[in-house]
Amino acid sequence: MNKLIAIICCLLLGVAPALAGDAAAGKDKSKTCAACHGPEGNTPAAPDFPRLAGQHYDYLVKAISAYQSGARKSPVMMPMVEKLSKRDIEDLAEFYSRQQGLVVKY
Ligand code: HEC
Repeated sequence: MNKLIAIICCLLLGVAPALAGDAAAGKDKSKTCAACHGPEGNTPAAPDFPRLAGQHYDYLVKAISAYQSGARKSPVMMPMVEKLSKRDIEDLAEFYSRQQGLVVKY
């Protein structure tokens, strides 16, 4: 019960969102990525480079982590992310997930 109250207090105090990334920090950290993915992750330098803008946060964290672990292989992307910390990955994912992505007609 005390644990539950503590969790609710944390949520009310806004402690929980601090566990996700920081979009402003992510924007700073995205400068090297911009060369290929565009400043907001929306204007890739080549048509076979992916857009990152508007992509889901969880997917971005997963994709970057997979390049880092080698589970997903790309000779281009693997060296780009090898030195990123967990925090860097979360900040970058937060930044790109908050950009306006493609609008799809349903
Ligand atoms: C030299 C060009 C280049 C740079 C710089 C670069 N990327 Fe990439 N990125 C690519 C290419 C090419 C791919 C597609 C690779 C593949 O086929 O898996 C890609 C794929 C990705 C994907 C997977 C997207 C998807 O839809 O699955 C993410 C996420 C990503 N990059 C994030 C980043 C981040 C974050 C940075 C900066 C730290 C960065 N990239 C820097 C070229 C680049």
